[in-house]
Amino acid sequence: MDKYKDYEKVFHSSRAPFAYIDLSLLDINIERTLLRAGDKKIRIATKSVRCLEVLKYLELKLGEKANGFMCYSAQEAIWLCENGLDNLLIAYPSLDSESIRRISTLTSEGKKIYLMVDSQEHVDYLEKLNLSEPLLLCLDMDLSTYLPGLNFGVFRSPLRGKSEFQKLLKRIKESGILKIKGLMGYEAQIAGVTDNQDKRIVMNIIISFLKKISLKKIPKIRESYLREIEKQNISLDFVNGGGTGSMESTRTEEGVTEIAVGSGFYSPTLFDSYKNFKYEPAAGFAIEIVRKPQENIYTCFAGGYVASGAVGVDKIPRPYLPTGCSLISNEMAGEVQTPVIYKGLENLGLGSKVYFRHAKAGELCERFNKVFLVRGEKVEREVNTYRGEGKFFG
Ligand SMILES: Cc1ncc(COP(=O)(O)O)c(C=O)c1O
Repeated sequence: MDKYKDYEKVFHSSRAPFAYIDLSLLDINIERTLLRAGDKKIRIATKSVRCLEVLKYLELKLGEKANGFMCYSAQEAIWLCENGLDNLLIAYPSLDSESIRRISTLTSEGKKIYLMVDSQEHVDYLEKLNLSEPLLLCLDMDLSTYLPGLNFGVFRSPLRGKSEFQKLLKRIKESGILKIKGLMGYEAQIAGVTDNQDKRIVMNIIISFLKKISLKKIPKIRESYLREIEKQNISLDFVNGGGTGSMESTRTEEGVTEIAVGSGFYSPTLFDSYKNFKYEPAAGFAIEIVRKPQENIYTCFAGGYVASGAVGVDKIPRPYLPTGCSLISNEMAGEVQTPVIYKGLENLGLGSKVYFRHAKAGELCERFNKVFLVRGEKVEREVNTYRGEGKFFG
């Protein structure tokens, strides 16, 4: 069913460009995520949401299955805490001393905010702050798979190997004020690498093969670290693994207590191309046709909201509605002008809207101050994104 007419009704008086979240589709994605999680809890990855109201909505809808938030910056975690959220895991190391001091105070007041470390250098840095209040730490282990000539994974944590892990545990235990409370391993090569791309049969086969190799190794690494934690009588609040793209495998690991999920809620275009799951396109943006240079070509204002990561056509926003719109390969989505080709039945003209989907989830919110929350034929509310709150966290 083509939703173009529905959205045209909903947004008939809204001035493009604007972003929206379709709550009915978001609800479907939440349900699918709950099913995919099996018996694991879900930690909401804020980077892939970037809107306080939606974060609260997701936590409410996930109910008992929700287990806090995975933040991306220390300042963000403080701001979310001040806005009533708790159980905040900062998933990437921070060297923001002012924020860390504040976090230590909030921790002493009973808030749960976890800082990420992966090396002795991180521990040295935290110790040098001479804090008098405690800090809760999570350790980030490397789950990349090293193959000849290829790191199938990401360059993040240097924490690999049992003896390195033992040394780090010992170092942190000696510090007194730093408490190990979480363990995280992000298998990016499973969660963030698509394996079912259109017209890329050979690549899909290669990636699936590499994933298979990697999936044999990941549980063993995680188990060996958990054994060390147990030996040292460290009591953890959580063991975090995976992401939207890896739920089917991450949930099978006994030691994992929760899975981080963000992108699956909005479901941007990069998440259309996985074998194991399908989500609904819950978030998008509209731009407006402002000129018609030729028959069947409609040029819209703005639209060039390209996603981060390795440069490629998969990072470009894609026309979504009306069905059948496509970009022009030597212009794509432009800074101020985006031409689309359309030969379908809708009667497009100046002022008509074309709906697009972003390649990534949260980055959409860095382009708009507000998003419309839509349900059925109604805009329920218009809410601020992080950007609309005047917040930029990186
Ligand atoms: C540490 C970590 N966990 C989980 C995820 C998964 O997030 P998403 O569900 O948005 O793909 C990411 C994404 O980059 C990540 O960096």
